[in-house]
Amino acid sequence: MGFTSPSDKEEISMIDSERTKELKAFYDSKVGVKGLVDAGITKIPRIFYQPPDNFKKASELGHKDYAIPVIDLASIHEDPCERKRVVERVKEASETWGFFQIVNHGIPVNIMDGMLDGIMKFFEQDDELKLEFFSHDHRPFMYNGNSNLYNKVIPSWRDSFFCNMAPNAPKPEDLPSICRDILLDYSSQVIKLGTLLFEILSEALGLNSNYLRDMGYNEGVFAYAHYYPPCPEPELTVGTIKHTDTDFITVLLKDHMDGLQVLHEDTWIDVPHVPGALVINIGDFLQLISNDKFKSVQHRVPANIKGPRASIACFFSTAFLPSSRTYGPIKELLSEDNPAKYREYSISEFANHYTFSLSKIALN
Ligand code: OGA
Ligand code: NI
Repeated sequence: MGFTSPSDKEEISMIDSERTKELKAFYDSKVGVKGLVDAGITKIPRIFYQPPDNFKKASELGHKDYAIPVIDLASIHEDPCERKRVVERVKEASETWGFFQIVNHGIPVNIMDGMLDGIMKFFEQDDELKLEFFSHDHRPFMYNGNSNLYNKVIPSWRDSFFCNMAPNAPKPEDLPSICRDILLDYSSQVIKLGTLLFEILSEALGLNSNYLRDMGYNEGVFAYAHYYPPCPEPELTVGTIKHTDTDFITVLLKDHMDGLQVLHEDTWIDVPHVPGALVINIGDFLQLISNDKFKSVQHRVPANIKGPRASIACFFSTAFLPSSRTYGPIKELLSEDNPAKYREYSISEFANHYTFSLSKIALN
């Protein structure tokens, strides 16, 4: 495919025109990173080189006291005391970590396993079948090989597909047959779970249970599924670049392979695999409307020599719904001691995920 691999690993910079040519060849191939791995490369093309990250990893520092909270939702429907305890833990986790894992959340294990299996099967089927879904336009289901939501310039070591889930559920005929049924099942489960999470989060903010739902913040959901092939030179690139999620909350299902890391006190903390768990994280919009009470925290997935790894992030976001609504810190949370930290922000200003940043709408 005409990629070059440098003989000298230190040589990270590339001449712009050369880089553009290689990027174009990569995108035009449409078979993503998996296509490179299938072609048997042993060195990664330079277009994937990422500048090194200077944050330490907790695993190297020997920190054992850091742990992303795992919250058990088992009896929150029956026992009001238990519900209060869960709300308290969700509040603490959202304020300090921006991340937590949940178990006994109601999504059956066979649906979670089936979803991960469906993602593997989609990416591992013949290229011609995958390419039927190749698109850069907005379609209910889009495979686009490797296009990065967060950073268009340096592709990362993974392939992805998009799927709209709500408010317009995908029509079965819009979905690839290899993972059609499971996508529909998983999507309806996540939407149901979202209702519960928005209730708990409303309570954790000290608001009425229905507050966030009544505002319609749980209405839009889209999924972004990832396939991370093994990488022959994982130290030179990343699986998912450091980013925050531009949504209210994200429900992430990942397989048993290590990978996800959260930046906490300038240290990368691994999110350990907990069987049956889902990872929940606070996105930028919830940080905005909670007036910084809940934190949207940076996270990433390093590339891995082992693989493949599968995950699916479901983003609760109203950004793609046609709306003239504006978003700002929730009035009920503001006081003289806690004045608004952000100005009102309208979805029409939200050009795209690449350029959004909370700092742009922060008040001094
Ligand atoms: C994302 C994300 C993590 C993962 O899609 O925003 O952070 O484990 N994914 O794939
Ligand atoms: Ni993310």
